[in-house]
Amino acid sequence: MNSLLILGAGGHGKVVADTAASSGLWQKIAFLDDRYPAIKSVIDWPVVGRLEDTQKILPAYSGFVVAIGDNILRAQLLKRYLDKGFKSPHIVHPKSYVSPSAEMGPGCVVFAQGVVNPGVKMEMGGIINTGASVDHDCQLGEGVHICPGARLAGEVHIGSHTMLATGASVIPRIHIGNNVMVAAGSVVISNIGNNCTVAGVPARVVRADD
Ligand SMILES: CC(C)(COP(=O)(O)OP(=O)(O)OC[C@H]1O[C@@H](n2cnc3c(N)ncnc32)[C@H](O)[C@@H]1OP(=O)(O)O)[C@@H](O)C(=O)NCCC(=O)NCCS
Repeated sequence: MNSLLILGAGGHGKVVADTAASSGLWQKIAFLDDRYPAIKSVIDWPVVGRLEDTQKILPAYSGFVVAIGDNILRAQLLKRYLDKGFKSPHIVHPKSYVSPSAEMGPGCVVFAQGVVNPGVKMEMGGIINTGASVDHDCQLGEGVHICPGARLAGEVHIGSHTMLATGASVIPRIHIGNNVMVAAGSVVISNIGNNCTVAGVPARVVRADD
């Protein structure tokens, strides 16, 4: 039986579980969450322990996904359990499109209406959220989150742990650094460095974090 353990039972975890169930590939789905035992289930799926129980509980499952919104923490936890030999599959909604020529690292998720076009390379722990699209030959570092309805044109490079908030867009061939927050609805038309928040149309740095 294919069984999936999801680390994190918040809003994002709920969509990961729903996506996994929709794919028809997982007969058993359960969560770990630090609110356990106060929370014992989410929709139809049980919460069976806390994050600190991962090492003990994970061997009974075929795979795991880290469903924690914080991009750095998600990548760290994913790496920790991959290094111990556990498997983190892709969770891809049947009503999304992932090109056969796209490459996705472990633990990436693609939600309903998400598009990952030819030649895309996505490192581990990436999220292509509902209705987001990543066009041809884009490269995404580890733990990148492309939020609902955000759009990347072709050949865009996005650094590790960067988030494109809801409805943001990026024109072709732009490079965005590590740990960047692109605010909701922004349009990125020039390259952006590391560790900052950008916002607006066109997007400009509104906060530098280093
Ligand atoms: C980017 C974001 C996280 C910034 O939040 P924050 O750190 O609290 O920053 P602030 O609200 O203090 O905004 C800082 C400045 O940027 C501006 N700004 C923030 N978001 C903006 C946006 N989407 N468009 C234009 N300007 C924006 C603010 O007006 C403010 O400008 P000011 O200094 O001139 O007053 C937030 O605005 C955002 O876009 N959140 C959406 C996240 C999302 O999509 N989540 C989905 C998860 S699935």
